[in-house]
Amino acid sequence: MKKIIIALDGYSSCGKSTTAKRVAAQLGYAFIDTGAMYRAVSLYFHEHHISLTNPKEIEKALSEIHISFQFNEHRGASDVYLNGLNVEDEIRKMYISQMVSEVSAITIVRKAMVAQQQKMGKSRGVVMDGRDIGTKVFPDAEVKVFMTADPVIRAERRQLELLQKGEMIDLEEILENLKKRDIIDSTREEGPLVQAEDATLMDTSFMTLEEQVDFVIQLHDAKVALL
Ligand code: DC
Repeated sequence: MKKIIIALDGYSSCGKSTTAKRVAAQLGYAFIDTGAMYRAVSLYFHEHHISLTNPKEIEKALSEIHISFQFNEHRGASDVYLNGLNVEDEIRKMYISQMVSEVSAITIVRKAMVAQQQKMGKSRGVVMDGRDIGTKVFPDAEVKVFMTADPVIRAERRQLELLQKGEMIDLEEILENLKKRDIIDSTREEGPLVQAEDATLMDTSFMTLEEQVDFVIQLHDAKVALL
């Protein structure tokens, strides 16, 4: 069967990664969480006190950053590695969420990440989730889905996720962070979060994970049948 690219874009905490992971496992495709890449860059900038307004420093830092994914049998998903170190847990913490939108709005950061993502998906057979996959990284992706959900439901999901990892954060604080990130992500100059013209909208507010996965698989199967 012909392998294609599935681009899953949309707002944070709409279930993108969970859906992408399941779809990839079901199809035997690779899953690439591009948000994790921007989070790993943010962690590096944080640890090395990189000034977000100094392009020279940023460029040098980017040349020293190597991001990779490695399958974790225990989790049944890929963990992200920053310069050989597993940073999967660290990059999900709130202090990274608070700086990642600013970091991912920097043009040279985006250029570097987009180039890597294009390399990773070149041979197709991938499910890539992010904000600009269907518009910028792979405008020729065969299947494009744009995911959205009610902000309060998204905040509740995020709170539960953080709680499961031992971080107890107020719902209001999470909601504020999500809204702030939505604005920065949607209004930045380079690769803003917008629905691609040919993307199918999926509002996950009242959908189960199974329904989300089926929705994407059906789009995939319909597309592949035509190739
Ligand atoms: O999906 P996430 O919440 O882990 O993404 C973290 C941040 O990274 C999010 O605020 C926007 C940014 N991002 C981006 O700008 N482009 C992508 N392709 C993926 C994520």
